[in-house]
Amino acid sequence: MWEYTEKVTEHFLNPKNVGKIEDADAVGEVGSLSCGDALRLFLKIGEGERIEDAKFQTFGCASAIASSSVLTEMIKGMTLDEAAKVTNKDIAEKLGGLPKEKMHCSVMGQEALEDAIRNYRGEEAAPAPEGEIVCKCFGVTDVLIRRAVEENNLTTVEEVTNYTKAGGACGDCHEKIAQIIAEVRGCAAPEVSKSDEKAPMTNIQRMQLVTKIIDNEIRPALKKDGGDIELIDINGTEVTVSLRGACVGCPSSHITLKNLVERRLKETVEEAITVKEV
Ligand code: FES
Repeated sequence: MWEYTEKVTEHFLNPKNVGKIEDADAVGEVGSLSCGDALRLFLKIGEGERIEDAKFQTFGCASAIASSSVLTEMIKGMTLDEAAKVTNKDIAEKLGGLPKEKMHCSVMGQEALEDAIRNYRGEEAAPAPEGEIVCKCFGVTDVLIRRAVEENNLTTVEEVTNYTKAGGACGDCHEKIAQIIAEVRGCAAPEVSKSDEKAPMTNIQRMQLVTKIIDNEIRPALKKDGGDIELIDINGTEVTVSLRGACVGCPSSHITLKNLVERRLKETVEEAITVKEV
């Protein structure tokens, strides 16, 4: 159980500014449902680029809701230039702190705000996804990891996971994250402990990853040939799916199931995954 401050609890139980601004002047989005956290921020901008109203919609945990709620309170009345200086540290501090494992929720708030400001100014709608993907499980690039390390003085792989989620599942990226920390800080790479290398995956992490791989990779691949797939259930490492469209009754459906679906889930999620069809 996380230790939450009174402020976090207050904003979680009675979040401020929940909802949508229908005629918003700017919308910022970050995250995706398949990754488990998503935040959409709506801004109404008045004269002098002052934020007159801010509302949010989020899919996330208590810390994500509290971070979003406090952020909207913080930025109301600020000019966009002032709001652009709000950092994830400011959000966490305003909440009296966040559990270290939940710092990524404050980062999500900062990124949604940056995205909304870019949106208002007609700049690139989304942060440039430049850089090399370091953590395949959460789609986190070296650029994002470098930024988190620099801005928050991170020194360990665990801290990077707390701020970016990178490294929070299979652990394959831990060595790479340690190298990036060493490069940014100009010191020796932090040691990657055995437990860091292969952190046991929780059920929620497994579910999020399986859903993400099916939605982002397997479904688009099947759809190219008129097929589709629906995720029915995940019980431990057993994944139950139902094939749809042209895959139904296809003589190769068993091969599709084993060679595409199961193989890909074994590669990206966990070797122990098995897939069955209903
Ligand atoms: S690749 Fe980073 S946790 Fe799996």
